[in-house]
Parts: sequence; structure tokens; C-alpha cells
Amino acid sequence: MNIILLGPPGAGKGTQSRRLVEERGMVQLSTGDMLREARASGSELGRKVAEVMDRGDLVTDDIVIGLIEEKLKEGAEGGFIFDGFPRTLAQADALDALLGRLGQKLDAVIELGVDDEALVERISGRYTCADCGEVYHDTTRPTREEGVCDVCGGTNFRRRADDNPESLRQRLMEYYKKTSPLIGYYHAKGLLHRVDGMKPVEEVAAEIDRILDEVAQG
Ligand code: AP5
Repeated sequence: MNIILLGPPGAGKGTQSRRLVEERGMVQLSTGDMLREARASGSELGRKVAEVMDRGDLVTDDIVIGLIEEKLKEGAEGGFIFDGFPRTLAQADALDALLGRLGQKLDAVIELGVDDEALVERISGRYTCADCGEVYHDTTRPTREEGVCDVCGGTNFRRRADDNPESLRQRLMEYYKKTSPLIGYYHAKGLLHRVDGMKPVEEVAAEIDRILDEVAQG
């Protein structure tokens, strides 16, 4: 089953994707993570996108479509979770075409709805394990033992350069201008499912599971 998790910055796409990978053996394709990896590697692509990302703007369609195309070729038995992709109508069309070429299709699009105020709270408190990428929050989901990752025992944590009020404002603007039209696009295709992302992580997870089980049963 191939699914998209759609939602504004901080909606919980990454948090829910990691759980689906763990529990359903799906493969997470996060264009944000891929771009951050490119930056960390110091590649030409990484240098090209760094400033754009820090400002909170979208990277050009051809770059992210190219990244996704490479990963799709590798295949995924449990299906793909597209996290943060597509973000424009051009990317959505490209995804359709890429999946079609591989004889695959999209099965569901899950939109996580979260209020802007809550997004600011979530983004300003977020940190991740530098070793395994587990996502935490200063108040709502701190590590059980201070300074030690619950999952891998790592002791290095990161905060993202674009997790500041200014970039977040721009990321939200980009979301409403360029990405939110995808809600109507996928609704028209009969693929859209809406989930209340304001609920606690476990409740959001349960709702996503219910939807995926229903979709799997046809
Ligand atoms: P990307 O990395 O995709 O960032 P984003 O979309 O802004 O989303 P986030 O990763 O910030 O949030 P999330 O929804 O994953 O939330 P999380 O689970 O971490 O993109 C970054 C940049 O890369 C873009 O700005 C752009 O420049 C570029 N880019 C990426 N893809 C692109 C594309 N396709 N095209 C063009 N450019 C692209 O949760 C956030 C926090 O909230 C955590 O602390 C978590 O613990 C907490 N939390 C999660 N769920 C809950 C809950 N239910 N209740 C309370 N707290 C919760």
C-alpha cells in the first residue's frame, strides 16, 4: 500500500511515519530528510538547497522529483509512505506518472489537520536523536532519561536550522499557497482521508490504522 501523509510543518507526519515503518514494514520517503542528508554530505545539491530550506521556501520541483524517482526504483515490499512529498500540483502529477510507470498506484492520502498555534508550539519544542532520528518534544514528548534517546541510547540530539519563528512563518505560507491545493486534488480523486492531528499521538495513530485497515480491505 502506498500512502501520502499530508499536513503543515509540525503536523506530525514524521512522527506517524516512523511508527508505520516500525509496525507495518513500510518504507518512509521524506524529501525533507533526503535534502538534509544532502546538506550534511556537503554535496553540490546540498549546498544549492541549504539557503532555500533555511528560509522556509520550497526547493524546486525537479530536484525533489529526481530524489523520489531514485528511491522508488529501489522498491518497497510493505509500500511507501510519502512524507512531505508531494508539495505542489506539479509534484503530485509527477508522482502519479512515476508510480504508473512502475505499475503501482497511490492507495490513500491522509491529511493531518493541526491549528497554526499548535504548530508553533510543536516546532519550537522539537528535537531529534542525531543517531536514529527519533522525534522528541521538550514538553509533550521528552526522552524518558534526560539526554538519552529512548530508542537507541544515543546521547546526541539536534534542532533544525529552519525550526525558528521566521522560517516557520514562511513554511506555513508556502504550505497554504502551494501544498494545500493538493487537499482538493486528492479529494477529487477519492483518495483523501482527514485525521484530527490535534489529538494525542496515540489517538492519531489509531485513527490512521483504522483508515489503512479499511483501505486494505477495499
Ligand atoms: P520537511 O522536513 O518535510 O518539514 P515539514 O513539512 O515542515 O514538516 P516537519 O518535519 O517540520 O513536521 P512533521 O509534520 O514531520 O512533524 P513531526 O512529526 O516532526 O521539509 C523541510 C524543508 O525541506 C521544507 O521547508 C522545504 O524547504 C524542503 N522540502 C522538503 N520536501 C520538499 C518538497 N517535496 N518540495 C519542495 N521542498 C521540499 O512533529 C513535530 C513536533 O510535534 C515533534 O516534536 C513531535 O514530538 C510533536 N508531535 C507530533 N505529533 C504530535 C501530537 N499528535 N500531539 C502533540 N505533539 C506532537
